[in-house]
Amino acid sequence: MSSKYNLPRGTYDILPDVSHKWEYIINLFKDTAKLFNFKEIVTPIFEEADLFERSSGETSDIVQKEMYKFYDRKGREFALRPEGTAPVVRSFVENNLNAQGGIQKLFYVGPMFRYDRPQKGRYRQFYQYGVEAIGSNNPFVDAEVIALFYTFARKLGLTDFEVEINSVGNDDVSKIYDEALIKYFLPHKEELCGDCQERLEKKPRRLLDCKVKNCQALGKEAPIMLDYLDEECSTHFEQVKRYLDQFQVPYNVNPRIVRGLDYYTHTAFEFLNNKLGAQNAIGAGGRYNGLVEQIGGKPLPGVGFAGGFERLLLSMEAENLFSGDEVIPQVYVAAIGEKAQDHVAGIINFLRMNNISAEYDPDKTSLKAQMKAADKFKAKYALIIGDDELIRGVVTLKNLQERSQVDVTLQEIPSQIKL
Ligand code: HAM
Repeated sequence: MSSKYNLPRGTYDILPDVSHKWEYIINLFKDTAKLFNFKEIVTPIFEEADLFERSSGETSDIVQKEMYKFYDRKGREFALRPEGTAPVVRSFVENNLNAQGGIQKLFYVGPMFRYDRPQKGRYRQFYQYGVEAIGSNNPFVDAEVIALFYTFARKLGLTDFEVEINSVGNDDVSKIYDEALIKYFLPHKEELCGDCQERLEKKPRRLLDCKVKNCQALGKEAPIMLDYLDEECSTHFEQVKRYLDQFQVPYNVNPRIVRGLDYYTHTAFEFLNNKLGAQNAIGAGGRYNGLVEQIGGKPLPGVGFAGGFERLLLSMEAENLFSGDEVIPQVYVAAIGEKAQDHVAGIINFLRMNNISAEYDPDKTSLKAQMKAADKFKAKYALIIGDDELIRGVVTLKNLQERSQVDVTLQEIPSQIKL
């Protein structure tokens, strides 16, 4: 068959043969977040465009080229959300979630949208899972969110990934570091790509994230932030590392992590699977101590991460990991004869009301066709109802794995089914 319409480039359908895998990893993420006492928050998939423009930073790729923006009928400018942190913080501020005091520990799951060149592991609509812990500057919390990701990945069975951490300092340190970067790169300005020449003026550290060979080679010798940290920043970073040891999370310090979004302060981290090729970040995050205030709230600190489900699935496939059960009916109902077919809906309803999943195909009438379908569905039982059984008030329950069968009344079925 050929459809008259195609799906938009960079998107995909989650078809029934993989949807159970998605369900499995989403549920496992939610269960893991709950183990850490995080609670779910759901925000809209579109927000005022300005929310993202301000928080991500004007030189970020998201703002420069990746936002799906549109005007509504009243001329207001919105954007499909490219990420989840700014919307969660917007909701935190708008709903006064800090009124309860303490740390608000929130998690989310949902689609994000970025207009980028699609490739393996990079989509225009992709699904993120993430957490945000708002209200504490304690390095314990930085380590706790990293430990949450680590626990989740290990529960999935993943082993091929690295936790890389860095400190990107605070505002004061950032200024000094940016000056050092400008001093280093300025004599090489002509050798830099066009984008980096602009970055040098606006946000020099983004140069370190450039994928162009020349810029990367120059970046290798550039000053690193860790050498510029003041006492507050380096104490914070040391404590994060100490807590990570206690949480038994192995990590590498990678001074080249700069992150593509502007809101980070102190800890920044990435979870990398180097076997995935160019799109090797299966998750990333960090601390954002200025974001709540920037969005209109009190000056409250926060820290969180988000990961892409697609890259997680790719990583699981690469490691041959099992994920989730396909939907299999417990009972395949076979009705033989007109009377039985006439009564079958009531019987199926009884099963389902008793939490027994049941399949019946009204277009199949012969016993042979129905038993064949039961096999195809990998059903554990077949329930055979014939006109004759109906008169006797019984049905035949056939255990398809053990190849045994009994005649039972409808009421007896739930106790006969072994799950
Ligand atoms: P991010 O690094 O932009 O951070 O994205 C986080 C993760 O989302 C990436 O590591 C990757 O796994 C996935 N991802 C990003 N873009 C795509 C894409 N086009 N296709 C498939 N997967 C993608 C953030 O979004 C921050 N909000 C994370 C955070 C939370 N920081 C603090 N709290």
